[in-house]
Amino acid sequence: MSAPAGVPPKIAARAAKLRAQIESHDRRYYVDDAPTISDAEYDRLFRELAALEAEYPALATPDSPTQRVSGEPAAEFEAVTHRVPMLSLSNALSEAEAEAFDRRVRDALHSERVEYEAEPKFDGLAVSLTYERGLFTVGATRGDGYRGENVTLNLRTVRSIPMRLPKGAPPLLEVRGEVLMFKRDFEAMNAAQAASGDKIFVNPRNAAAGSLRQLDSRITAARRLTFFAYGLGAVDWGGIAPPATQDALLAFLAALDLPVIKQREVVHGYAGLLDYYRSIGAQRHDLPFEIDGVVYKVNDLALQQRLGHVSRAPRFALAHKFPAEEMATEVVAIDVQVGRTGALTPVARLKPVFVGGVTVTSATLHNEDEVRRKDVHVGDSVIVRRAGDVIPEIVRVLSDKRPKGARGFVMPKRCPECGSAVVRLPDEAIARCSGGLVCPAQRKQALLHFASRRAMDIEGLGGKLVDQLVDNGVVHTPADLYRLGVAALAELERMADKSAANVIAAIDKSRETTLPRFVYALGIRHVGETTARDLALHFGALDALMDADENALLEARDVGPVLAQSIRQFFAEPHNLEVVAQLRAAGVHWPESAPKKIAAGKLAGLTFVLTGSLPTLTREEAKELIERSGGKVAGSVSKKTSYVVAGADPGSKFDRATELGVPVLDEQQLIAMTDGAGRLQRGA
Ligand code: IVH
Repeated sequence: MSAPAGVPPKIAARAAKLRAQIESHDRRYYVDDAPTISDAEYDRLFRELAALEAEYPALATPDSPTQRVSGEPAAEFEAVTHRVPMLSLSNALSEAEAEAFDRRVRDALHSERVEYEAEPKFDGLAVSLTYERGLFTVGATRGDGYRGENVTLNLRTVRSIPMRLPKGAPPLLEVRGEVLMFKRDFEAMNAAQAASGDKIFVNPRNAAAGSLRQLDSRITAARRLTFFAYGLGAVDWGGIAPPATQDALLAFLAALDLPVIKQREVVHGYAGLLDYYRSIGAQRHDLPFEIDGVVYKVNDLALQQRLGHVSRAPRFALAHKFPAEEMATEVVAIDVQVGRTGALTPVARLKPVFVGGVTVTSATLHNEDEVRRKDVHVGDSVIVRRAGDVIPEIVRVLSDKRPKGARGFVMPKRCPECGSAVVRLPDEAIARCSGGLVCPAQRKQALLHFASRRAMDIEGLGGKLVDQLVDNGVVHTPADLYRLGVAALAELERMADKSAANVIAAIDKSRETTLPRFVYALGIRHVGETTARDLALHFGALDALMDADENALLEARDVGPVLAQSIRQFFAEPHNLEVVAQLRAAGVHWPESAPKKIAAGKLAGLTFVLTGSLPTLTREEAKELIERSGGKVAGSVSKKTSYVVAGADPGSKFDRATELGVPVLDEQQLIAMTDGAGRLQRGA
């Protein structure tokens, strides 16, 4: 390549190389959907080229990637008359309609089995790109099919649209295709819009349309749009042999650097069409962009000619649509569901609507704030979306259709399942039922936790047994366990007398426990084993803990406002108090002591991470040792880790410690640092 006048050949060569690199990365990102460099690296190439062109303006030819954005905002778009009208497609919404299409084509062509080319139906907007002598000159929207808007400047900013076609392009080529936005670019754009308080787009198609129809092409340039070619308008072949099939046509366009879809196929007969429809339907959610169906085209272009058009749609093509993923319906009620952990979820009950291939009657609203953000009222008309196998959700409310007097949502003050108080802790989005021990929705989870090894340690009381006990109405609260007899248990399915007796014995044995275990077993939100032990030590007796007000709770080690409130809420709930009283009445007991402030401990403020197997201590013993001395044990190494304690065969945590310069101890050194050096008391 010869350098433009006044430009050193080396510089010109570097600019040419950068241009080629940028174009190839554009291709990898938009066409192949497989970028090989980061955005930052791309920007570096781009800025280097821009800097060279600024220094040597002769390098800045109109087809340079840097020249995609230019000019001032337009006052309005000019009209463009399409040389060849941009038609629409007939739609099929069912397999029967698709089969009827194939029958019509076969009849018209007197053919037994027709060859089709099948491709995805892009959910974007149609445009026409005019190339004259290989240069991109005019880009237009579809408009009414005969006249569209001139959006050339905006289309120049779309990086996958070539500004110049390679040698061998026809003298006049009108390329028809679809402009769209990748799902990931749509999400990033919406996140940026939200952060700056700007408009949020409903879906990638609206975002693409809104971006393409900007009068200021600098705005379009900042939005990542892309393009796929699927057909032709007017062409002057200028002596080139035209392709004979739709498939060859797309290959021809691809050879001219125009993006075409990879996931296209040549298929035969109705069976082939249906296979394609199903296969693309299964890939739909994995594609980087949205599609709303597939398009079947008779592959042979001469046969296409013969079939011609009916009114405004070709007879040789059909759009076979997927079931719509978004539909309008009405909210008939907003209920509240209680989950296994006591979380209260508002759920919109909907007038049944067929969306995404199934009938939807409800949609989750996640939490109170979400209902407020989406501003959903009972009686509202809403757009419901069901994409893939995700739970249906309300995309938005059609607020202009809101009936007078429509009711907003208020989180109930009492749990709909058990009537216990509903609590929403500070900094939490989720409201919860405080009736942990009595709420039917939480019953199974609460019982399993109560019986677990580190709580009341009732051996044999596992998931299957709890299911049966609860489902048969034998056990409602943990207190009911202590009223069970062998006979009642043995009546349950698959329960031998022997194992029934074992379970009863385990329950019986659990009557004798410790205060830390009992406090932990209650399943108070945020009260884990360590906290339960601290609370037990601090208060000494259960009544002291139950009577403690928030200030008294805050005095205990590591208790903050969230935890204090959670404990208060639990013991403020009369149902919970009743179960505690019943458990005591059933003979559950533990040694109590005078309250004692936990000494800060030698390891207070230090965080340890354990890795590998230690010579004498188990993981749990080491953890207990550290915690007893006031230290904390974390699961992963970070800059905040004070020490890593390593045994034999340490894992990646050891490497990470070395990397971050965190000191590493062996078991001996750990024991030497702790309070009760080496003397472990087994069992809390
Ligand atoms: S071919 C004669 N192929 O569908 C019309 N159209 O309803 C030729 N569309 O406006 C259109 N993907 O925007 C064709 N692979 C595809 C398509 C496609 C999406 C759109 C196009 C058109 C609409 C027709």
